[in-house]
Amino acid sequence: MQLLVTGGAGFIGGHLAEHFVKDGHAVTVLDNFEPFYDTRIKEHNVEQGRAAANEGDGSYRLVEGDVRNATVVDDLVSNAEVVFHQAAQAGVRPSVENPRKYDEINVDGTLNVLDAARDSETERVVLASSSSVYGRPHSLPYEEDHPTQPVSPYGASKLAAERYTMAYGDVYDLPVVALRYFTVYGPRMRPNMAISNFVSRCLNGEPPVVYGDGTQTRDFTYIEDVVQANRTLLLTDAADGKVLNIGSTDNIEIRTLAREVRNQLAPELDIEYDERHDADAEHTHADTSKARDLIDYEPTTTIREGVERFTEWYRDNRDWYEPLIR
Ligand SMILES: NC(=O)c1ccc[n+]([C@@H]2O[C@H](COP(=O)([O-])OP(=O)(O)OC[C@H]3O[C@@H](n4cnc5c(N)ncnc54)[C@H](O)[C@@H]3O)[C@@H](O)[C@H]2O)c1
Repeated sequence: MQLLVTGGAGFIGGHLAEHFVKDGHAVTVLDNFEPFYDTRIKEHNVEQGRAAANEGDGSYRLVEGDVRNATVVDDLVSNAEVVFHQAAQAGVRPSVENPRKYDEINVDGTLNVLDAARDSETERVVLASSSSVYGRPHSLPYEEDHPTQPVSPYGASKLAAERYTMAYGDVYDLPVVALRYFTVYGPRMRPNMAISNFVSRCLNGEPPVVYGDGTQTRDFTYIEDVVQANRTLLLTDAADGKVLNIGSTDNIEIRTLAREVRNQLAPELDIEYDERHDADAEHTHADTSKARDLIDYEPTTTIREGVERFTEWYRDNRDWYEPLIR
């Protein structure tokens, strides 16, 4: 199939593009190489996509461009059967400094994708949404109809993008799905995420730093589980018009995660505590039963296995990856 992955040079989009190419699809990636973190990580993602194309039947094309440019988006969307819209300005804390940028990329950029899809024969638009749309928990784990009360401009922008996506689905009969990802991690992950920080610091003999008292809880979702959820959406229309939580097998306190990583890698180290940021969610925990019922989503990687796999990858790739995240 002809697939478009926006933000396909990024962490999640990079894995999606690579897997889709391996599955034999013709993949186009749109990415503007936003310098939010070291773009050499994104170049590496692109290399992985190209390598997959050289080894199999799929193809890989990179278009360097911006989702805020409606002409570029129109052109690419009109040539795609399914669009996986991952491009976004990520990062909760920086959104507090510069909310407008989040609005322009995450909301207007999504509207460009939706307008183009409405005007084409697009078979499905899959939006990367986020657990940050929930904000304050009234009950846990979050079911999809839990109230949405984002506590950061980032969360607000993802919620707006999601609402537009669902509205376009309703009003224009466009097949759309929004996947609310819960803290995704794995090889080539973005810097400044808890797991990459903990692993990197422990391997360098530095204590892991926990923000707040560490009793915040998270579903850490391994990238392969996220890829699998997206892949399924090439095969079924069962989730059209729906919002689905994509979370993990287990929920963990940040301080427990820090201890796990520390115990595995550097048991002699203490754990350091620093001030918590208000825009960070207190708890995220996904009820994934809707995704299981509709698309057979079954996360398989436990946090312990995932950290082990990430650490192994980190050690193997330490020479190029570590200097780019520290
Ligand atoms: N990583 C997570 O834990 C997580 C959790 C919830 C939701 N998400 C969502 O998943 C998606 C992917 O996140 P990620 O972690 O891979 O982040 P990422 O920053 O690695 O990937 C986003 C990609 O989008 C590109 N991009 C940004 N602005 C763009 C623009 N204007 N035009 C074209 N490309 C642009 C960036 O260059 C980057 O390569 C995002 O939509 C994010 O909101 C991620």
